[in-house]
Amino acid sequence: MSVLGGKKIILGITAGIAAYKTASLVRLLIKLDAEVKVIMTPASKDFITPLTLSTLSKNPVHSTFYDKEDENELWNNHVDLGLWADYMLIAPATANTLSKMANGSCDNLLLATYLSAKCPIYFAPAMDLDMYIHPSTKNSLEKLKSFGNIIIPATSGELASGLVGEGRMAEPEDIVSFIQNDILSQLPLKGKKLLLTAGPTYEAIDPVRFIGNHSSGKMGFAIAEAAANLGAEVYLISGPSHQKIKHSLVKRIDVISAEEMYIAAHTYFNDVDIAILSAAVADYKPKNVVTQKIKKKDTTLNIELVATKDILASLGKIKKHQFLVGFALETNNEIENAKNKLKRKNLDAIVLNSLQDKGAGFATDTNKITIIDKNLNQKSFELKSKIEVAKDIINEIIIKIKE
Ligand code: CTP
Repeated sequence: MSVLGGKKIILGITAGIAAYKTASLVRLLIKLDAEVKVIMTPASKDFITPLTLSTLSKNPVHSTFYDKEDENELWNNHVDLGLWADYMLIAPATANTLSKMANGSCDNLLLATYLSAKCPIYFAPAMDLDMYIHPSTKNSLEKLKSFGNIIIPATSGELASGLVGEGRMAEPEDIVSFIQNDILSQLPLKGKKLLLTAGPTYEAIDPVRFIGNHSSGKMGFAIAEAAANLGAEVYLISGPSHQKIKHSLVKRIDVISAEEMYIAAHTYFNDVDIAILSAAVADYKPKNVVTQKIKKKDTTLNIELVATKDILASLGKIKKHQFLVGFALETNNEIENAKNKLKRKNLDAIVLNSLQDKGAGFATDTNKITIIDKNLNQKSFELKSKIEVAKDIINEIIIKIKE
């Protein structure tokens, strides 16, 4: 998923010829799973129709404070619109609108929404070359930058006037990349690499049977998503799981057995800053894997088991700069057991699930955790969805790695 996935975006369109390109812009944003509401200045409707934009954005398009054609004369509340948005993009932004934005005019819905918005504001200027370099325009641009608004610079090329020079609106693809990169560059885990183990492991008995457990992988996959949404590059090493993940920053490595998970974790560990081992790794595996299907013979069958390698403990021994986090699923004496595990495996933090807590553990969509750090500070969280728990875990790690 893109950093714009699920985000609410207001696209403000002003009266420049580049407005015709906003159809592609809306399409690109919608393809990234963003929710888009378009606000047009009245004059921009001469360049592209509201119908095109409402069809593509799947939302009504507004340009006035109330819709006269609507029988209820619906009031378009600029304050609500401004507060609704996670991001606002004004493209194309004409010299006229830039000047009004810089000076606090609000004589149309777009400008009033701009003044009400608290979110990051991007604008993509588009005008003729002499207008672009005019001191008055430069002044507007500087003022808007000083407000914290973000300029997506115009490019050089042939302009609608026939002149060649700077003033062309950046292409829709470049506008979208610019915004994505800008958001990414400010995310707290930007530039960090994270290793995550998730799901169960299956230990083969014979070609058709295995020893496994009920872990769904939900918790681990939610952590992968939460970390990637904050800019981390994630190596997600997953045992057999039906969970799906689609995020450009998540590389999924599928494994089956504890041994395969051990090898994959050690392959990536040197390269990462943070490792979170949430997998429910089998503690034991059959000593010998039978090559042919075992036939039913006697009333009992003994399978000799041997311990698997403890991936977490092994990483704890070799860790250098990495922030290493383990999980503990306990039924009794939870805090003490978790603290012992933290020390024994040389961890920076441990996430404790207590099976005493209703709604915690494997097969649920919820979880209730306590995080204990290496100084034995502990913090308990409410019962929450695994998606929210994942965000809590990642936020705690961000706080700890900054300490
Ligand atoms: N773990 C691991 N490799 C294993 C076993 C466990 O990496 N072979 C990791 C899990 O991913 C989890 C933590 O160790 O982060 C939990 O280990 P757990 O099995 O609960 O602890 P043990 O040390 O095996 O102790 P016990 O079974 O006695 O609770």
